[in-house]
Parts: sequence; C-alpha cells; structure tokens
Amino acid sequence: MNVIADMSSSAPSSAPSSAPSASATASAPNAAPLIEVRDLRKRFGDVEVLRGVDLEIARSEVVCVIGPSGSGKSTLLRCLAALETYDHGDVRIEGELLGYTERNGKRVSASHGEINRVRRNVGMVFQQFNLWPHMTALGNVMEALLRVRRLSHDDARRRANAMLETVGLAHKGDAYPARLSGGQQQRVAIARALAMEPHIMLFDEPTSALDPELVGEVLQVMKQLARDGMTMAVVTHEMGFAAQVADKVVFIDQGRIAVQGKPRDVFHDAAQPRLRQFLQNYFDRNAFWTRGPADTQPL
Ligand SMILES: Nc1ncnc2c1ncn2[C@@H]1O[C@H](COP(=O)(O)OP(=O)(O)O)[C@@H](O)[C@H]1O
Ligand SMILES: [Mg+2]
Repeated sequence: MNVIADMSSSAPSSAPSSAPSASATASAPNAAPLIEVRDLRKRFGDVEVLRGVDLEIARSEVVCVIGPSGSGKSTLLRCLAALETYDHGDVRIEGELLGYTERNGKRVSASHGEINRVRRNVGMVFQQFNLWPHMTALGNVMEALLRVRRLSHDDARRRANAMLETVGLAHKGDAYPARLSGGQQQRVAIARALAMEPHIMLFDEPTSALDPELVGEVLQVMKQLARDGMTMAVVTHEMGFAAQVADKVVFIDQGRIAVQGKPRDVFHDAAQPRLRQFLQNYFDRNAFWTRGPADTQPL
C-alpha cells in the first residue's frame, strides 16, 4: 500500500495536477528543503548541547542520524518537533520559522497556536511508544484525530483502521497495548503518527527498546514508508538500516555535525577520527563470528 499516495489524495489542499496555476504554486515550495536548520544552538544550563548545527532535509529524503550517547541527537529532533525551544539559529519547516516570530524587527517567541501551526506536519515516534494502556490499538490511533484534528468518530475510525493496515496490524485494532508485543506497540505508535498526515516523520531510536527479534518488523515498516516517499529523519543505531535506506547519514558528535554524506562515504571512507572510533566500537560490539584472517577485519 502506498501510504503517501493515500495521504496526498485525502489532503484537503490537493488540487488536480492538470490545473496550471495549482501546479505552479505547488512546485515552488517543493523546491525548498522541507526542513532547514541553520546554526542551531541549544543549552541546558551551563552546557551547550547543540553547538551550531546546519542541516537540510529535502522532500522524500531519508536522513539517518548517528552518534555517541549524549551528543545531542534527541535534542536536535526535539527542536525540529518544537518539543524543545532553541536559543539561537533557525529551524524552518516548509519555509516557515519554528518557535519564533519577528516583531518590530526583533525575534520573539511565537504563540502556542503559531508553533502548533508550523509543526502541524511534523510527526514523531519515540523510543518508548507511550501508548495509552486503557485504550485499544485503534483507540490510540484515533485519539488525536478526534481531539486535535476534530474528525468525526466515523472518519477517525476509518483513517485509524487504514493506518493500522499500513503497519500490518489491521487485525489488532481491538487489542490493548499490554496484549501487544513491543514491536507491535511501536507499529501502533507509527500508525498514530501517520494518521496525522505528517509531511515528515522523525524517529528517535525507534527500535532501541525492543528485543532484538522484534526490531526487524519495525524497520520493515519504516523501509516501506521510505519507499513510499515519506521524508524521514531517523536517529538510529541500526547501521544496516542506515546503509540501506538513508539518502544521507549524519554523524553528530558533541553537539555538532562532524560528518555528513552518502551512506557509502560515511561508512566506508570514514576519515574523521571520532567517526572511525564510533563505527569501530559498533563493529566490535556486533562482531560475533570470526573464521580466519579475512573475516577478522571489521566490515
Ligand atoms: N532536559 C534536559 N535538561 C538538562 N540536560 C539535558 C536535557 N536533555 C538532554 N540533556 C543533556 O543534553 C545532552 C544531549 O542529550 P541528548 O540530546 O539526549 O543526546 P543523545 O540523544 O545524542 O544521546 C546530554 O548531556 C544530556 O544529558
Ligand atoms: Mg537520544
């Protein structure tokens, strides 16, 4: 099933592509990056955790973010979703500044309403799935459609069912989270985010809380989303996924993007010492089978 095609066909703003004026206006914003981050800085108390991050994410691009623990990966994603304020720089979503507005030539914090408007098309999936335990899978996906999007019960149910189908859980709509595996719960959380028809999905270590044998089913759903053209930023330790799916891999170290490039360049030709060390640690942890001299080298 093509999630993105489904979404765009139901989007209220979609216009027939044959109408010249509509396609002309639609192509202009499409040319701009979906997300544009310029010199982003963020401190917690005395500690500057983002120290000047520049990043662009184009439409339909999949960006995987890797890096050591504490390097600022979650903070970066949280700034993109307006779950965290930032101190300096710009975060633009589809050309619009997030979190701030200009008044009398000065930058001031934007209102909640304005922030929600700009971040409306950003979906996020966390390491902890945070499903409501007292609601079924279907209820969890419907919740924000009813409360935030104010859909009718029938429309919310229809869309929620379609999203559960997208993540391969149409048959689990009536199940409560406690009766679902971690992988299934995370797929419900993905369905819940997709139901809001985001233009970009942010994933913060979506498989890190899962038992190893459940990781694959979640990555599979994410791969399908990527194939369908979803724009995605994924913080992950799944290097195989990053190598296969990412258009761009970003290595964050100590609050800065130290390296970014195509997966092949980042993984195979890593010259930057901190990146080399990071990847070496990863390979050391994951190498469990050596047979001879040829196989003792990390990939
Ligand atoms: N709400 C917060 N208050 C204080 N310090 C924080 C907060 N959130 C994150 N930090 C600190 O910011 C740094 C970066 O954290 P984080 O973005 O979570 O890193 P990562 O996701 O790469 O592991 C860490 O040193 C962390 O302890
Ligand atoms: Mg993190």
